[in-house]
Amino acid sequence: MIETVSTTAFTDQKPGTSGLRKKVKVFQQQHYAENFIQAVFDVLDDRAGATLVIGGDGRFLNRVVIDKAIRMAAANGFSRVLVGQGGILSTPAASNLIRQSGAIGGLILSASHNPGGPDEDFGIKYNVGNGGPAPEKITEAIYARTRTIDAYRIVTAGEIDLDRVGTQELGGMTVEIVDPVGAYADLMATLFDFTAIRGAGLTVAFDAMSAVTGPYATEILECRLGFAEGTVRNGTPLEDFGGHHPDPNLVHARELYDLMVAEDAPDFGAASDGDGDRNLIIGRGIFITPSDSLAMLAANAHLAPAYAKGLKGIARSMPTSAAADRVADALEIPAFETPTGWKFFGNLLDAGRVTICGEESAGTGSDHVREKDGLWAVLLWLNILAATGKSVRQIAEEHWARFGRNYYARHDYEGVDSAAADALMATLRDKLAHLPGQKVGDLTIEAADDFAYHDSTDGSVSSNQGVRVLFAGGSRVVFRLSGTGTSGATLRVYLERYEPVSGQLDADTTQMLADIASAADAIAGIVRHTGRTQPDVVT
Ligand code: G6P
Ligand code: ZN
Repeated sequence: MIETVSTTAFTDQKPGTSGLRKKVKVFQQQHYAENFIQAVFDVLDDRAGATLVIGGDGRFLNRVVIDKAIRMAAANGFSRVLVGQGGILSTPAASNLIRQSGAIGGLILSASHNPGGPDEDFGIKYNVGNGGPAPEKITEAIYARTRTIDAYRIVTAGEIDLDRVGTQELGGMTVEIVDPVGAYADLMATLFDFTAIRGAGLTVAFDAMSAVTGPYATEILECRLGFAEGTVRNGTPLEDFGGHHPDPNLVHARELYDLMVAEDAPDFGAASDGDGDRNLIIGRGIFITPSDSLAMLAANAHLAPAYAKGLKGIARSMPTSAAADRVADALEIPAFETPTGWKFFGNLLDAGRVTICGEESAGTGSDHVREKDGLWAVLLWLNILAATGKSVRQIAEEHWARFGRNYYARHDYEGVDSAAADALMATLRDKLAHLPGQKVGDLTIEAADDFAYHDSTDGSVSSNQGVRVLFAGGSRVVFRLSGTGTSGATLRVYLERYEPVSGQLDADTTQMLADIASAADAIAGIVRHTGRTQPDVVT
C-alpha cells in the first residue's frame, strides 16, 4: 500500500524568507514537490501518530500538491490530517487551526502575493506547532535533507474528496476536511467588538484580489458584521487571481485606491493578498503606510476587547519605520527590532514579550495566531473607528501630532541581474566602516551597519540582514535583497525621514524623501550597478 519511490535530489530547494517559492513549471518537474515534502517530514521526529494541517491559497497547482501531501502524510506515519475544504486555508486561518487542533505543524501552499497560474509562482511553507513559520534551524535542516534525499513514501491507492466536509480514511490515516472559514471567523469575534462595528454605520470596500480572503471577508464583513452586499470585491478565489498580482499595494490595488480618493469614497478601504496575511489600509483620501498602520493600531489597540488590558510589547522588522517605537516609548513597553520575516516574531510572541507585530511589507498581527493577518488588521481598524467615531484621516493626523511623523517609502528594483545585485551589496558592505562622518548632499551619515539580530529568547544570531545607513536627525536608508522573489534579484531600498511634532506633518512623502533617495544612489551606486534609473515599484 505504501509505495517507496526512488528520486534524485534537487539542488535548489532552499527555503527563502517564507518557504520554498518557485515558478509553477519548476514545481511541475517530476518528484519536485514530493522531494521537498518528504524532506520536511524527514526532519519531524515527532510525526508518528501526529496531526498535520494542510491548506493553501487556491492558486494553480494547489489541489494537485495537496493531494500529494495528504498521500505522503499517510505514508509517513501521521494519524490525522486536517485539510481546508477545496484545499483552501488562508495563512492566518491555517496558523489558527494548527494551534487549536494540537497539530505538530502544517503545510501551507502559497506564494503569497506573487502572481499565480501555469506560468507564475507556487510555494510550500512548513509551519511549526505554535502555528508560525518554521524557524531557520528547521528550514536549514529541511534544505540539508533536500540535498541528500533519494526516496519518498506515498500512498497511491484510494480517493480523497477535497470538497466534502467530514471524515475520510486513507491508508489508515484520518483525513478531516474542515470548513476553512468558521473557526477563524469565531476567533475574530472573540477579539473585536462586533456589536460596536455593526452599529457604527461605516461604509467599507474590501478588495480580496480574487484570492483566498474572499470567503473569509464575505462571511465576516457581510454576514456577521452586516456590511452591504458588494462590500467585498473580487471575492471569489481564482487559480490565477484573475491575471493580477494579488499584492495589496498602491500599484496592484490601484482600483481600490482610485475608489478611495473619489468624491463618494466609502469610509474605509482595505485589501489583502494571495494567502490573506497582508493588508492595505486606505481611509477616505488617505493611504496609511504599513509602518504607520502598525504604530496607529498599537496606539489604539486598547479600544478592542482583546487588547483592553494593554500591550506587552511591540515588535517590528528592521526595515519597518520607527513610528511604532515611539508608541512603545509612550506606552512604556518594550520595542523589538527583528530581521525581515514573520518567523522572527514567533519566539517573542511565545515568550509573551510582545502582543503586536508588524512589517513594512504590509503585514500586521498579534499574539492571536503566529502569522500576520490581513483581516485582523482590517477588523482592528474598524473597531478603532467604531469606538472613537473618528475617520481614518483624523486618527492619522492626531497620531502624527502626538508622536511626530516618519515619512516612509520603499523603492523596489525588480528582476535585477543577480550578480549585479550581489556586487552592489558586497561593495556597500565593504565600505560600511568608512561611511560614518561622511556628508552626502546635506545629510551627514551618523552610523552604518549590516543588521544582525540576537534573539534574546533562544540566543540565536541571524547576520547579514540588511545594510542600514543612519543620518543625523533620525533619517535613514536601508538596503536589502528580497528573499521571496522567483526570478533574478529584487533590490529593496527603504527610505525614512522623521519629522518631530513641531515639524512638517502634512507634506508630500516623495518630496520629503527626495534628498534621502538621491543619497541612497550616491551611497550604493544603484544606477551604476543595476543600470536602472527608476524603481519598478514604489510603496
Ligand atoms: C513574506 C514574509 C514577510 C516578509 C516579506 C518580505 O511576506 O512572510 O514576513 O516581510 O515576505 O520579504 P522580502 O524578502 O521579499 O522583502
Ligand atoms: Zn502573504
